[in-house]
Amino acid sequence: MRLQVFENYEEVSKAAAKIVASQIIVKPDCVLGLATGSTPVGMYRELCRMYRDGLLDFSAVTTFNLDEYYPIDRDNAQSYHTFMWENLFSHINVRKDAVHIPDGSALDAQTECDSYERVVTEKGVDLQILGIGQNGHIGFNEPDESLEVKTHVTALTDNTVHANSRFFESEEAVPKKALTMGIGTILAAKKIVLLACGKNKHDAIVGLLNGRVTTALPASFLNLHNDVIVICDKEAYEG
Ligand code: F6R
Repeated sequence: MRLQVFENYEEVSKAAAKIVASQIIVKPDCVLGLATGSTPVGMYRELCRMYRDGLLDFSAVTTFNLDEYYPIDRDNAQSYHTFMWENLFSHINVRKDAVHIPDGSALDAQTECDSYERVVTEKGVDLQILGIGQNGHIGFNEPDESLEVKTHVTALTDNTVHANSRFFESEEAVPKKALTMGIGTILAAKKIVLLACGKNKHDAIVGLLNGRVTTALPASFLNLHNDVIVICDKEAYEG
C-alpha cells in the first residue's frame, strides 16, 4: 500500500484527478469504479475542468458506482444517481449507457445486486476510487462480524446514518439500507485509490495503515491488494 500525504483538500483532489486522467489517457476505454460522498467532489471538479480544457475524452469510458441508497428514486435529490450526474456525468462526454449505478428503486433488491455484480465482474474495473467512512467502511461495507464478498443489500449503521444525515433534511429521512459492491467486488479492481480528508478520518486511516486485516475495519482488507494508493490530507494523517 502506498501513501501520499498532501497539505489540504485541494491538493488531494488534484492528485487523485491526475491518476484518473492518466488512466483514461493510457486506456481510453477503461472502466472506472466511482465513489460519492463529499471527499471526491473536488476530484470530480478537477476532472470536469480537464474535460472542458480539452485534456480528457470520456467517450469510451465505462463507469460503475460503488453503491446507492435503498430504497430511493433516481430523481431524489439525495440519490447517488443525482449526485453523480450533478458532480460529473452532466459535465463530461461519458455515454449514458456506459454509466452504471445500482438501482435504488429496483423492486427486488437482491436481483438488482446479482445483475450488477455480474456486469461489473464481466467488465472488470481498471481503477477504483474509494472514500472511507469514519468507521472504516468502504462502499457501504460496514464493520461487522463478517463481510459480504459480492454486491449485496446492507443495513447502514447508526454511525453512517448519522454521518450522512448532513445531506438530508433529518436523520429520519436517511434511507436505512443500501446496495453496495462487496469487499470482493472492490478488491477485484486492478488498481485502487482511496481518498481521505479531515481529522474525523484519522482513526480509520491509522487502522488502515497498521497492516492488519479485520472485519471491524472493512477498509483494512485493502491490505490484501497489491496496487492501492492512499491519498490523504495532513489532518486525516496526523489527526
Ligand atoms: C460513497 C461511499 C462511502 C463514502 C464514505 C465517505 O459512494 O461508498 O463509502 O466514500 O462514506 O464519505 P465522505 O466522503 O462523505 O466522508
